[in-house]
Amino acid sequence: MQLHKTIHKTNPPILSPNLSEYEDIRSNFEWSSIEKELDWLPNGGLNIAYEAIDRHCLKGNSNKIAMIWEGKNGEKEQYTFEEMRIHTNKFANVLKNLGLNKGDRVFTFLDRTPEIYFSVFGTLKAGCITGPLFSAFGPDPVRDRLENSGAKVLITQPDLREKIKDILHELPELKHVIIINKNNRSELPLNYGEINYHEVMNEADNEFDEISTTRDDYSIMHYTSGTTGKPKGAFHRHNAAIQHYITGKWCLDLHPDDIYWCTADPGWVTGTSYGMCAPWINGVTQVIYEGGFSARKWYQIIQDYNVTVWYTAPTAIRMLMKAGNEVPKNFDLSQIRFCASVGEPLNPEAVEWSKEFLGLAFHDNWWQTETGAIMISNFQFMDIKPGSMGKPLPGIFPGIVDDEGNEVSDGHRGQLAVRPGWPSMFQGYWNDKERYDSRFKNGWYITGDEAIRDKDGYYWFVGRSDDVINTAGHLVGPFEVESALIEHPAVAEAGVIGKPDPIAMEVVKAFVSLKEGFESNDKLRRELMAFARNKLSAGVAPREIEIIETLPKTRSGKIMRRLLKARELGLPEGDTSTLEDD
Ligand code: PRX
Repeated sequence: MQLHKTIHKTNPPILSPNLSEYEDIRSNFEWSSIEKELDWLPNGGLNIAYEAIDRHCLKGNSNKIAMIWEGKNGEKEQYTFEEMRIHTNKFANVLKNLGLNKGDRVFTFLDRTPEIYFSVFGTLKAGCITGPLFSAFGPDPVRDRLENSGAKVLITQPDLREKIKDILHELPELKHVIIINKNNRSELPLNYGEINYHEVMNEADNEFDEISTTRDDYSIMHYTSGTTGKPKGAFHRHNAAIQHYITGKWCLDLHPDDIYWCTADPGWVTGTSYGMCAPWINGVTQVIYEGGFSARKWYQIIQDYNVTVWYTAPTAIRMLMKAGNEVPKNFDLSQIRFCASVGEPLNPEAVEWSKEFLGLAFHDNWWQTETGAIMISNFQFMDIKPGSMGKPLPGIFPGIVDDEGNEVSDGHRGQLAVRPGWPSMFQGYWNDKERYDSRFKNGWYITGDEAIRDKDGYYWFVGRSDDVINTAGHLVGPFEVESALIEHPAVAEAGVIGKPDPIAMEVVKAFVSLKEGFESNDKLRRELMAFARNKLSAGVAPREIEIIETLPKTRSGKIMRRLLKARELGLPEGDTSTLEDD
């Protein structure tokens, strides 16, 4: 066992919360007054990268550390705001030299290295739309996203390029592949036509004076899952910077001297909105750890870098709880002064646990890829109601509505909806206007979640109103998994559900029926698991596969996932009148 560390740190300063009153601020709130706290471009435009980086340099904070990075192999690097400014300028010039135009899509498929941050913000400076992808993805999700978005540039690294080499020729709109060989980690050679990131960055100019975006130009896109069809690319505009800024300040309570750590990957919207934009727009130093989850390592990061504000997910908190109550006692975590979580319901036990072992309660907040930023939050100064998502950010108007879009009274369950028009609202699903339009009803944006508002104005999450699976905070569309499974020669049909799980909230479970001539056995089941993992990623692929004779279907041939789930959980089957006869 590791000995108790004897570094004696001073207690973190008691800071007054950035938001210390709610009702008055909410009633008199105007977004225009928040907009004045940003700098805006000299020509009146708005650019997320400029607000996150350049403006701090112009205000005398060039030498402040923006990023403290620890690699998965223990490498350590750090970058000041000025260094970030130069790296992102250079990358913007790289794109300009390649002839890219405003609105072109530039995707990253990279591990969490500093270069992903340079590429994303350089892309934003160049006026292109950035699309960060999870490096855990297999070839299918990468192809689907690059194809749908018509991405012109992909920035990746040698080992990940190997993983997707067979799909690259299927993407006629993809013009350039830029390869980053971070610290010469890989010995794989560049392929013909690929661009060496280090070479072009060396040659690129340090200055980029041509940022020309307006608040309405598109900025970031993330693919998110629905019940039907492939994932859809929700895209945002630079205007989101306003809400990134104020939620960083009020919901995460970021103060100038904080050291902030967001554990989310940039492949997930939390990793861009809160692992890039919000902290840096607030001028705060962030820690970025490339490696995956390990309770010890995570506590160590908090201790060694003196993390003061920490943003993570309920699954991670449950994994820390599972690792045992003795582990945190070996580390000095006394610098943390605020911690928050998002992505799934935060169990009241997790709040109680964190009070006991970290000395602080986790503050839950709620939002989605589509909302672009935090919408409902347990603010630092407020009493937490454990299990509740909190109250609306001033300027945000949620409601609980019925199927027709009429508000239901407090205490009653309904669809969580929001009045459109908030600054970080998504602007569409790429190439799918119909789907975008279908999210609005009776003057509301319908979130797809069910919730209850109590008489004190706190919102409580009840569940999803669709078949989307939430596994470890990540949304998985059953259709995407079913489509991958039926590509296997043995599979006739597949139906995918979320099965409750004590740690990950839900795990992906697939039911499959086989084609004539294939026999159900353990070997085939394992083969199917490996097949799905290769095509998708370990996080999206089914954790369990059950081979069954036939899948329950409606008369029109739609697989009834609801019934599969009811049967799995031993619950009543509900209305089965549309069930196909056997
Ligand atoms: O179902 C809700 C759940 O995560 C969904 C949004 O997921 P995604 O678009 O991937 O966005 C991730 C950024 C947060 C929501 O529709 N969710 C999010 N926060 C909470 C939550 N469920 C319960 N409690 C939360 N605090």
